[in-house]
Amino acid sequence: MKNTLLFLSFIAIALSGFSQDTYTVSTKTTKAKVPSTLWGLFFEDINRAADGGVYAEMVENRSFDFPKPMTAWSTWPSERLPDGKFMVINQSAVNEADPKYMSVNLNAKDTVGLMNSGFDEGMSFKKGLAYNFMLRYRQVAPGVHVRIFLFSGHNRVIGHNQLSLNESSEWTNQEISITPTDSAKTGKLLVIFEGAGKLDVDRISLFPSDTWMNRKGGLRADLVQKLADLKPGFLRFPGGCIVEGNQIVHRYQWKHTIGPLENREMVQSIWADDVPDRQTPDYMESFGLGFFEYFQLCEDIGAAPLPIINVGMSCQFDAAEVVPVNELEPYISDALDLVEFANGDTSTYWGKKRVQLGHPAPFNMKLLGVGNENWGPQYAEHLKLFTDRLKAKYPDVKLVNATGYSRNIPVFTYMDSVLRKRHADIIDEHFYDTPKWFMDNSSRYDSYVRSGPKIFVGEYAAQSDRIGSMKNQNNLLTALSEACFMTGIERNADVVAMASYAPLFAHVSGWQWTPNLIWFDNTSSYNTPNYYVQQMFSVNKGTDLVSITLNNKSVSGQDSTWASAVIDKTTNELIVKLVNMSSHASKKSFRLDVSVTGMASGASLSGDLKAENSIGSPEYIKPEITMIPANGQHLEFAAKPFSFNVIKVKLK
Ligand code: AHR
Repeated sequence: MKNTLLFLSFIAIALSGFSQDTYTVSTKTTKAKVPSTLWGLFFEDINRAADGGVYAEMVENRSFDFPKPMTAWSTWPSERLPDGKFMVINQSAVNEADPKYMSVNLNAKDTVGLMNSGFDEGMSFKKGLAYNFMLRYRQVAPGVHVRIFLFSGHNRVIGHNQLSLNESSEWTNQEISITPTDSAKTGKLLVIFEGAGKLDVDRISLFPSDTWMNRKGGLRADLVQKLADLKPGFLRFPGGCIVEGNQIVHRYQWKHTIGPLENREMVQSIWADDVPDRQTPDYMESFGLGFFEYFQLCEDIGAAPLPIINVGMSCQFDAAEVVPVNELEPYISDALDLVEFANGDTSTYWGKKRVQLGHPAPFNMKLLGVGNENWGPQYAEHLKLFTDRLKAKYPDVKLVNATGYSRNIPVFTYMDSVLRKRHADIIDEHFYDTPKWFMDNSSRYDSYVRSGPKIFVGEYAAQSDRIGSMKNQNNLLTALSEACFMTGIERNADVVAMASYAPLFAHVSGWQWTPNLIWFDNTSSYNTPNYYVQQMFSVNKGTDLVSITLNNKSVSGQDSTWASAVIDKTTNELIVKLVNMSSHASKKSFRLDVSVTGMASGASLSGDLKAENSIGSPEYIKPEITMIPANGQHLEFAAKPFSFNVIKVKLK
C-alpha cells in the first residue's frame, strides 16, 4: 500500500510537472502579422542625449549664446580681462536666432586666449584621430592671428595648429584639423589670439572626424551604432517634455532647427531646472541635431520617422500654458508644413527646403505625433482642430495621440474614451512603474478591443525605486520585468503597433532622469540589461505571431514564466521568447505542431537581479549564446534562474 501511494504520488508529480512545464506552440495558425514598427526608439534631449551626447560637438556654448555668455569659457592667461580685450556683444536686433558674439580687440602685440572646458567632465581626445576645428568670424581691423591648442586634463599640450584668417569683413566659417599626439579624457581647448587688430568671433567649434558616416559636424558614431544595433522599427523624436517646453516660448519649434546653425535659435532645456536634485543650469538645446538630422538618422538606421509636434500647450506638469484656440493657426501650420518638409517635392515650399538641404528623396514620413504627454479637455479640443486639418490634407499619415502620463487615472480614462469615440489612429500610453507592475500587467492588452485604435506604448521603464527617484537603477530585475511585459505586447501585436523604452540616453554625470537605456560619458558608453532585452526582442521580431500556451492559456506568469512566440517567414524559423522569474533553474519542454531540425540557437540574459553594467564594467551582464539540440516535434530547454531567453529554430 505504502509503495502504491508512493508510486501514485510520483505519477502525480510527474504528470503535474509535465502539464506545468510543457508549452504548446502552434505555428500553423498565424495570429497576426508582426508590425515592422513594433519595437522602436524614443529619443529625447534629456540627460544630455543630444547636446553633450550624441551630437558630437565638443565645445559647450560654442556661440556664446547661453544666458550667461561665458558659460564653459574662461579667458587666458588671467581669469578676467577687464581691459576690453574680450567683449560679448549682443546684437539681437540683427540676428535674434544667434544674437551674441565675442569681440576680440587687441591694441598691442598681445597674446590672450579663450579656454573651453567642454561638456561635463571635459573633452575626450583620441591619440592620432583628426579633430575638425571651426571658427566663424569676421574681420573688423585685420591683424589678429589665431592658434589652437588641445590640452590634456593635466594641462599638457597634446595638439596644436594655427589658422590663417582671410580678411573678409563678412561672417566667414574657416576650418582646420588638429591631431592630438596623446589621448585624454578630461581635456580642454584653448584658442589663442595674438597681434594687433579687432576680430569678431561668432562660433568656435570642435568635432571629432570619426563621426557617424563621417559626416562633418555630425553624430557620435559609437552612440549611433548602439541605436543601429537595435534594428529599430521607428524613431520617435524629439521627445518627451521638450516638445512642450516648461513655457510655450520654450516649446520645440522644428522650423528653428533646420538650415545654417546661425539660424537655429537656442532654447533653455526644460531639463535645466525641472529636477530639483539634478539641476543642470547650463542645459541648452543648440539644435545642432535638428529635424533634418533626425530624419536622416531615421533613414540611416532603418527606422520609420515619428516626429512629435507641439499642440499649443506647454508641459502640463509645469506652467501648463494653453494657447487660445483662435491663436492656434501657426501651430497647426507647423504640423502641416512638417509633412510637406518630410514628404513634399520641389513644387512645394517646404519640400524644396528639404531638397536644398541635400535630401532630394522624400523621408517617407507616415506617422506624426500630435502632442506629447497632454491630456484634458483643452488637449481634446486642440487635437480635434489639428486632426481635422491634417486628415483633410494628409489622410494617409497616421496620427499618434496622447493619453497623459500614466494609466488608470481619470486623465487616462478621459482621453482614452475621447480618442476611441473619435476613432483615433494610434493611442500613446506611458508606463513608469514597479517591476511587479510590469510582471502583473503582461496581459493588459489581451482584453483590448481588436477593431479600435492601435496602441503605441510610447514610454515605459520599470523603476527599481519609484518614479522620479534619483535612485532608480538599470538592473536585471527591471530588465526582466520589462521582458515579461513585452511578451504581452508581442502576444498582442494585432493591437499594439509600436513600443519604445524611455528615456534612451543618459550621460553618467550630466543626467537628470533615471533609469535610461544607454549610458555614456564623453569617451565611452555601455548597454544596460534593459537594452539587451530590447535588442533580443527587436532583432528577433519575426514576421508572424503564433501561439504559445500552457494548459491552453497564454503564458503570463504561471509557473513564474512569461512567453511569446513568432515565426519568421523570411528565414523559416520559430522564435520563442521566454522569461523565467523563478530563483530555480527550470526545464522547459515545448510541444510543436511541426518538426524542427538542427540546433536551436538563442540568447540568454541572466544573473543577479541587482546586477548592473557601468562604464567600468560595461559587459558585466550581457546575453550569452545558447545552443539546444532540436529534432522532431519536441524541444527541451533548461532556463537559468531569473533569465530571459530567446530560442530560435529552423522549421522543417
Ligand atoms: O522620459 C522622460 C519623460 O517622461 C518624458 O520627457 C516625458 O514624456 C515623460 O514624462
